[in-house]
Amino acid sequence: MAVTKFRTLKSPGDFIAVSHKTRQTRGRMPNSRITLDPDRTTGKIDNRIFSGFLEHLGRAIYDGVYDPGNPLSDDQGFRRDVLDAMRPLRMPFVRYPGGNFVSNYDWKDGVGPKDSRPVRADFAWQTSEPNTFGTDEFMDWCKTVGTDPMMAVNLGTGTAKSASELVEYCNHPSGTYWSDLRRTNGHSDPHDVKLWCLGNEMDGPWQAGHVPASEYALRAEQAGKLMKGVDPSIETIIAGSSGNHMPEYMEWDRVALEYTWDHVDYISAHRYSRNENDDTPWFLAEGVEIDRIIEDYRSLLGYVRAVKKSSKQVYLSFDEWNVWYRARGGSHSKGGWAQAPHLIEEVYNLEDALVVAQYLNSFIRNADVVKIACLAQIVNVIAPVLTNSDGLLFQSIYHPIVRYAELATGDSLTPVIDGPEYDAGERGSVPSLDVSASYESSTGEGAVFAVNRDPGNSTTATVSVNGRSVTNADPGWLMTGDDPKAFNDWAAADRVVPSTCTVSVEDGVAHMELPPMSIVVATMGTSTALMMAPSAAD
Ligand code: AHR
Repeated sequence: MAVTKFRTLKSPGDFIAVSHKTRQTRGRMPNSRITLDPDRTTGKIDNRIFSGFLEHLGRAIYDGVYDPGNPLSDDQGFRRDVLDAMRPLRMPFVRYPGGNFVSNYDWKDGVGPKDSRPVRADFAWQTSEPNTFGTDEFMDWCKTVGTDPMMAVNLGTGTAKSASELVEYCNHPSGTYWSDLRRTNGHSDPHDVKLWCLGNEMDGPWQAGHVPASEYALRAEQAGKLMKGVDPSIETIIAGSSGNHMPEYMEWDRVALEYTWDHVDYISAHRYSRNENDDTPWFLAEGVEIDRIIEDYRSLLGYVRAVKKSSKQVYLSFDEWNVWYRARGGSHSKGGWAQAPHLIEEVYNLEDALVVAQYLNSFIRNADVVKIACLAQIVNVIAPVLTNSDGLLFQSIYHPIVRYAELATGDSLTPVIDGPEYDAGERGSVPSLDVSASYESSTGEGAVFAVNRDPGNSTTATVSVNGRSVTNADPGWLMTGDDPKAFNDWAAADRVVPSTCTVSVEDGVAHMELPPMSIVVATMGTSTALMMAPSAAD
């Protein structure tokens, strides 16, 4: 039995979210209503939520972004096809060089003449690291792509001193030992790195130099102070828990945050989504868990701010996120000391793309807390693109990220959804639609990003904007399919690609249909003329 309830609040269309349940009967078409209000915003969408992450891991760097001698590479050894594939992702920042790799990395091995750089045994992934790509090559690559660097320092086996020397190498103009070394190495202008991660996943026993939270807090505080001493304009990110599965989740974060609060700007969150039980309805409700994690951090940040009686804000940097569970463990994660072996090369399907879209929806909806997010990773290693020596393949997850990054600008509007729920197994009954919305108040133009997570039912949705009329809509962007496991490969690169769908406008309201397992992105214009608003008594 479908039940729909509205509770009228102060203004028309100002409903609380009430869902009505549907049975799992394929083909039923319950209606959904998406209501937006230009005055109900969680703030400006920070475009840094579309950042990426590049680690010395498997074929991410070597054979990925850097492939000297390959005819597809430019004269710096950068793969041109990779550069071209990265640009539509519009990543404002790319985090580097790890990840687990950074926790035993000496950045000094990776600068200066290449023939005198040492080959090192990498503890994290059991590979041989040739160090022919290092800090300066990464900076050059960022410039060529049109992105900015977000550096991580080694707080596993590294020291605060070495971390601050890296800041001096990168950001100090000249006239000191490390800045002059950078100049000698061919970079007269500072790299001007603004964002710095203080270590990586230091709560994890797998991490080189893993320590208890209290010890990490000391390390982060000391390194951060020295680093900001060299360049007070930088912002720092402390390493939060490596996931909500960790025994010390939130407690680790609380200890680290309370100790470093006055000197840091962000705390990191990480999540890799898994469908290990091959349960598509359950997996497609992953957005519920992503929202929960952000809510956990929102609460923690408020709590620490309160006990500190502080007026400053610390924000969330969700600087590793993606789907990752198939290419894990064993030979996926340990390289047998080879150089650039095939490690954690996850192949992405349609259901993964729907989960990726839900990460982005959650970041947009929580724009007041999530200021940075880094897709982990960008090439070959759990990545939206794969390379071989002859070319490049776009995975399913590439497409929604491109579309979102292009259109999610301006304010994040809080969507109020009235619509069906579906049975997500152990996750219970979950709203079928997961939605975010962006809005440019200066032009009245906006975009609605909607995922229909129900594997069995389509839904027709209306989009209305309080106090405004929708005047026009472009054809919608659609990604869907019958098979949640469909994926692209070298033989069939276009099994999971976007198409278009109709978005019609009638009486100031947009209408669209979302097939089962679909992402629809609808762009529309609104009139600036206010509609007559009935009084609360009506
Ligand atoms: O992105 C792959 C790995 O996942 C990173 O090195 C680490 O930080 C996380 O556990």
